[in-house]
Amino acid sequence: MNDLNALPDDFVWGAATSAYQIEGAVDEDGRAPSIWDTFSHTPGKIDNGDHGDTACDHYHRYSEDIGLMKRLGLGAYRFSVAWPRVVPQADGRINAEGLAFYDRLVDGLLDAGITPHGTLYHWDLPQAQQDRGGWPERATAERFGEYAAVVADRLGDRVKHWATLNEPLCSSWIGHLEGKMAPGWTDLTAAVRTSYHLHLGHGYAVQALRAAHSDLQVGIVNNLSPIIPASDSEADRLAAVRADGHINRWWLDPVLGRGYPEDMVKLYGVELPVRDGDMELISAPLDWIGLNYYFRQFVEDDPTGAVPQFRQAPGRNAEHTAMGWEVDARGIHQLLMRLTEEYGVRKIYITENGSAYRDTVTADGRIEDPERTAYLEGHLDACARAVAEGAPLAGYFAWSLLDNFEWAYGYDKRFGLVHVDYDTQQRTVKASGERYAEIIRNHRAR
Ligand code: NOJ
Repeated sequence: MNDLNALPDDFVWGAATSAYQIEGAVDEDGRAPSIWDTFSHTPGKIDNGDHGDTACDHYHRYSEDIGLMKRLGLGAYRFSVAWPRVVPQADGRINAEGLAFYDRLVDGLLDAGITPHGTLYHWDLPQAQQDRGGWPERATAERFGEYAAVVADRLGDRVKHWATLNEPLCSSWIGHLEGKMAPGWTDLTAAVRTSYHLHLGHGYAVQALRAAHSDLQVGIVNNLSPIIPASDSEADRLAAVRADGHINRWWLDPVLGRGYPEDMVKLYGVELPVRDGDMELISAPLDWIGLNYYFRQFVEDDPTGAVPQFRQAPGRNAEHTAMGWEVDARGIHQLLMRLTEEYGVRKIYITENGSAYRDTVTADGRIEDPERTAYLEGHLDACARAVAEGAPLAGYFAWSLLDNFEWAYGYDKRFGLVHVDYDTQQRTVKASGERYAEIIRNHRAR
């Protein structure tokens, strides 16, 4: 492993999770179902018929989990607040018991010297909002702004770092176009409207957060991929431009003040329901941009396929994770440089990066996961290289603290630095977790 000295002294070392993936306790203390409860209980949607009813039981075991974070030496923890716990129903009533959980969590983190980084929306739309039309409707963006105000009002005195949305690409394209995530729609118009209303909701949330406390550090989290044409052909090159629009530019441009990319607006052929003032809200200045990086994407033209008429081609490296994702740490460097040089972003966090592998549990109960360790080291190296070249990277959050509910893949795919035995809920720090702790110690002691 290269030298991580390029990383600044105050570099934030963290790990990330999200509510539905770890909390469980889905019908406790006034929580109502979200679209993920509905989707995961729909036969055939999730591998093995898994769902998040219990997940890592973090709702009851959060103190133990904070202990694990302490043991790893984390300086920060990225978690999401579950909208269906806080404002469970369509009537807007605030559920005090739901908010109280996040109070306990945040106080526990602060007591342990760990800085909380909150995310307002990690895909768990209250089913009651879905029943009123969900994200294709403008009202959902307005309700999201109201929910953001409730959370900011209650937690903003202690949680100073906030992301509005996590990976709106997934909610829009995977949830409403490909149908592989909740709510499971396959409708381009609904998907484009969803993306627009997510951005609008982001704008309302930024406003609500800033109104509640002037000192909050507010950002948005996007998953981006370097796009590489599968061949030198003109058709594949153009497919790569469309893929870059679909996967990267659609998510960065409007939020960073460039408006929606014209080529993509034309290609989708769906009128954006823009009203006066919306674009100003959507592009309100942010304090930081979050990058979730997992893989590069090779694409080829798909002239008979649905808009945006490209398909994924196989990755070029031999190494792939258990998700089937090609491993290439150069991608994280490339995206950091793009955000820095092309978009002029002045503060970036890696809000997620990590890998799923089949872990080996040894006879004496240790978890050997050398591939995950190599992935972590390689990607941290690439981050340090980007910092040396001028990227304003302020922190790194490993995905994930714990093995957890990996959406449509259920519990089979394990991303944790900490292994979870779902029969006993026993947590065991993996070898990669020990290595991460060592990296953090070394960086602090340099
Ligand atoms: C991104 C998502 O934000 C997270 O929920 C998911 O588990 C990881 N990627 C891994 O797929």
